[in-house]
Amino acid sequence: MPVVREKDIEVLFSAEEIARRNLELAKEITAHEYKDLLVISILKGSFIFAADLIRAMHEMGSAPEVEFMFISSYGAGTTSGEVRVLRDIDNDVTGRDVLLVDDILESGKTLKFTRDLLLSRGAKSVSLAVLLDKTSRRQIELNADYVGFNCPDYFVVGYGMDVAHAFRELPYVGIVKGDAA
Ligand code: IMP
Ligand code: MG
Repeated sequence: MPVVREKDIEVLFSAEEIARRNLELAKEITAHEYKDLLVISILKGSFIFAADLIRAMHEMGSAPEVEFMFISSYGAGTTSGEVRVLRDIDNDVTGRDVLLVDDILESGKTLKFTRDLLLSRGAKSVSLAVLLDKTSRRQIELNADYVGFNCPDYFVVGYGMDVAHAFRELPYVGIVKGDAA
């Protein structure tokens, strides 16, 4: 087991598995032949997934525009979850196909809020791509169009995902198991 910050990390999805899956997702996305696609990476957690996914999309022949939205979903996993836009995109999305990219789909509140916002601004379509889907945690009905992996109900870190800003640099997704012996 890798040890990081003196903690054992159990690897759930390896760097190689993720890279393979990204190519498959990119192939599916490209096959859709979206017109004038705008990819929006939802910060902070999706920055590594989005970086790899857009390069896999390039390999498959997509040429999207890429933007970023910083969404805060304080307590999103709880019923009190409040979602706010901390940094918005500069683009006009009217009439455009948009692909929202996020790390994890959990309660569904973050992506539902963001998708509804872009649709209300006139986006033609808003599709959702997530690396991980924690279906057991869903609080509202929402499904992603592109899912990397189904994720068991553990708090996971790595590949952009953090505990208090730590562990984002891990090239894999894992669970922090506790103090290494
Ligand atoms: P929700 O779908 O609105 O509940 O929000 C999901 C968001 O919560 C994700 O984009 C992550 O930023 C964060 N999140 C949920 N589960 C985890 C986890 O296991 N590790 C790290 N962040 C998580
Ligand atoms: Mg997030």
